Amino acid sequence: MTKKICPAAAIRGVVQLPGDKSISHRYAMIGAIAEGATRIRNYSAGADCHSTLDCIRALGIKVAGEGTEFTIEGRGLDGLRQPVRDLDAGNSGSTIRMLSGILAAQPFPSRIGGDESLSRRPMQRIMQPLAAMGASIRAREDKFPPLEIQGGALRPIDYEMPVPSAQVKTCVLFAGLYADGETSVTEPVRSRDHTEIALREFGAPVTVAGRKITVAGRPRLEARDVTVPSDLSSAAFFLEAALLIPGSRLSIPGVGLNPTRSALLDFLGGMGARIRLPQVESSSGELVGEIVVEHSDLTGGVIEGGLTAALIDEIPVLAVLGAATRDGLLVKDASELRIKETDRIRTICDNLRRMGVAVEEHADGLAVGGRQKFHAAELDSFGDHRIAMAFAVAALAADGESVIHGADAASVSFPRFWDTLAAVT
Ligand code: S3P
Repeated sequence: MTKKICPAAAIRGVVQLPGDKSISHRYAMIGAIAEGATRIRNYSAGADCHSTLDCIRALGIKVAGEGTEFTIEGRGLDGLRQPVRDLDAGNSGSTIRMLSGILAAQPFPSRIGGDESLSRRPMQRIMQPLAAMGASIRAREDKFPPLEIQGGALRPIDYEMPVPSAQVKTCVLFAGLYADGETSVTEPVRSRDHTEIALREFGAPVTVAGRKITVAGRPRLEARDVTVPSDLSSAAFFLEAALLIPGSRLSIPGVGLNPTRSALLDFLGGMGARIRLPQVESSSGELVGEIVVEHSDLTGGVIEGGLTAALIDEIPVLAVLGAATRDGLLVKDASELRIKETDRIRTICDNLRRMGVAVEEHADGLAVGGRQKFHAAELDSFGDHRIAMAFAVAALAADGESVIHGADAASVSFPRFWDTLAAVT
C-alpha cells in the first residue's frame, strides 16, 4: 500500500492507542502456562501479537475473543501440546525469542520460524544461554530462523548477558521457570522489565538486585485478569508529531509509563518538550497515565550508552525530530539498530536524505544536524513498521505532499495508525 501524506496544520485532539506490544506478548505467553483462564483487555491489535496468539493456539491453548479482548485458557507449566505444524512468528522477534525459552523446556520437539525479515535476525543470543541450560536447538547457518528445538529438561544458570536485550532476558527467565532451582540473568544495562512485573503478577517469585534478576523454577502460575496499557512506543509517533508542528496540542490517555520505557519522556523533556503527565496510577504492577503534549522548540541532544538501549524503538522517530531541533541529534552505541526489522540506521538515513535532510551514517549510529527542513519526497517503509510511522511524522512537516511506499507495514504494531493519524491532523 502506498500512502499520500499532506503537510499538517496542527495535531490536535485525543488519541487512543493500541495496547503495548511488549506487555501483550508477555501476558499471552505467561497466560498460556498459567493455571486457569487469563482475561486480557486492550491486547495489542498488531500483527506481531497475533503471531504470538497463533503460536500458543498451535501449542494446544484455547484462545477465545476478538478485537482487543482475549481469554487464554492456561493449562499450567506442563499443559502445552506438541504442535502439528511449524510455529509461525511472522515478523515478530519477540515471539520467536521469548517463546523459544518455553519451547526449549517442553517434552516435545518444535520448529519455529517467520517471514523474510525475521529469517535474517540473529538467534545465537538466545541459543547460547538455552544451550547452557541443556537445550538442544538447531538453526539455519547456526544462527538464523527457523529454529528446530528438541525440548527437554533444563538446568538453571546464572547468565551474564552480553547484549542489552529484554527479549533475551525474557527467554532465559521463561526457560528458568522450568528448571530445577534458581535461574539468574545479569543485564549489561537495565532493559524493559515487563517480564519481571508480569511474572510476579501471575505468582512467580522473581527477585531483582541491581542488574541481576532471579526466578525460582517450577512456580505455580495463576491466571489473572489484566489490562494492557497503551503503547508508549506507538505514542512516540504522535507526541513527536505534536512537538514538531506549530499549534499542536494532543492528549494520549492510558499510556504505559513504566520507568524502564519512559526515558523517552525524560529525554524529550530535557530538550525542552512541553509534556505533562496529569495523573499516573498503577495497573497490574505497571504505571499508566495520560500524556499531554504541546508543540515545543527543542534544543537537540545526544543518545548514547544505556540511554540508547532505553530508547531503541524510538530512535527512528527521534532521528526525524532531531532534524527540526536547534542543535540536532547524535545517536551512538546503537549497532543493535542494524539488526531490527530492517537495518534501521540505513533505512532512517536513506529516507532522511530523500527529504533533503543531511545526515551522517555511522557504524553504530547517526548524526543529524538541526534546523533542517523536510522536503516532500517519495519514501519507503522497507517493510518496517517503525520506519513507516516515523516518516509519516516527517511527511506531516514537509513542504508538500509525500508518499510512503509499503505503508501497510505499520500494521505490525499499529493496524489503525493511518486512520488515527488522519483523525488528529
Ligand atoms: C522488546 C525488546 C526490544 C525491542 C522490541 C521489544 C521486548 O528488543 O526493540 O521491540 O518486548 O522485550 P531487544 O530485546 O532485541 O532489544
